[in-house]
Amino acid sequence: MPERIATEKKGFFSRLETLFPFDWDLLRHAGAEPVPYHLKKWWFCLGGTPMYLFVVQVITGIALTFYYVPSPAEAYHSVFVITHDIRFGWFLRSLHKWSANLMIISVFLHLLRVYFTGAYRHPRELNWVFGFSLLGATLAFGFTGYSLVYEQLSFWGATVATNLADAVPFVGSYISYFMRGGPEVGEQTLTRFFIFHIGVLPTVVFLLLAMHIVLVRLHGVTELHFEGEEVQKEHRFFRFWPEHATTEILIGVLLMYLLTILSLIWPATLGAPANPNVTPEHIKPEWYFYFSFRLLKLTSLKVSVVLTGALMAIAMFWPFIESWLKRKFGMSERLSIFIGIFAFLGFLVLTVWESFAH
Ligand code: HEM
Repeated sequence: MPERIATEKKGFFSRLETLFPFDWDLLRHAGAEPVPYHLKKWWFCLGGTPMYLFVVQVITGIALTFYYVPSPAEAYHSVFVITHDIRFGWFLRSLHKWSANLMIISVFLHLLRVYFTGAYRHPRELNWVFGFSLLGATLAFGFTGYSLVYEQLSFWGATVATNLADAVPFVGSYISYFMRGGPEVGEQTLTRFFIFHIGVLPTVVFLLLAMHIVLVRLHGVTELHFEGEEVQKEHRFFRFWPEHATTEILIGVLLMYLLTILSLIWPATLGAPANPNVTPEHIKPEWYFYFSFRLLKLTSLKVSVVLTGALMAIAMFWPFIESWLKRKFGMSERLSIFIGIFAFLGFLVLTVWESFAH
């Protein structure tokens, strides 16, 4: 009898293999890739965290889309129904909201780790650009998602953002018109933000992620050498599968716990419905745009837009700019660290300042 089962099993799997003729050895070989030992620490393998949270976003986002209605007349009411009437709707919304926030925080932290360990340097310049585009797409996710709620603050946040786009030199009016779908934020704007939020951005992030991970695999993760490290070379690596994969799975479980706890303690709230005729006393974007909002308050519309754009462009192409500065002026890597600390502190100060301001 056991023999018969074994033969049947073999028969079933060999039939499956003819239906799906995949060379599993390739996968086994790819999984056995040695990864540097420092990846045992969360700080160094932070890239997996936003990837995990992106999956949570997609799953909870699909569930929310079953109930959300993208029209100015219905949007707010549909979010109200999700929050108060649909069973566990509030939990789904809260998971989506918290996961979005944690995704932005973890992408920032991953960027800082890559910057301060110098892992963006040759030959990984292009992967930094892909990564930076991922950061932009993640922020665009946050912005469009927040606007979909169609409450007072999110409506006026969208209005301020499209006014900011208007101030971009030469092409600003085209960008803002494209974003709004007309001269003002309204019906067309919501449809556009919805299409971006559930169609364009997920596709863009998926493609960028694929490129990002392929390049990580092709280059291999940067080997870091720590001062005083006396470990023999062959001990500085471990296998991706199962050792590193176990760490990533554990991080995933812990993140799910964290998301659940945050959602239970601070569930997603809902403000007053959007009213295009009444400007609220204190307009505030989501916290990750505080720095540019503070910059706007400190300078003028035009100056803040040009300054933010210039800083973002420098950051995006920093690996290329740095290597040019090194070749031309012999700039030291130590100066890059100072520039990084200065930029990070500037961002932090503006963000904290805005968060305490009215
Ligand atoms: C959704 C956002 C992102 C995801 C899911 C992601 C994912 C990953 C993963 C899984 C790795 C492998 C090593 C690690 O885990 O640290 C990695 C490495 C890397 N990432 Fe990202 N990343 C994202 C955003 C970014 C950003 C914003 C940047 C910088 C602007 C960036 C630049 C890099 C670079 C240069 C490497 C190679 C690091 C090395 O060789 O040590 N990534 N990323």
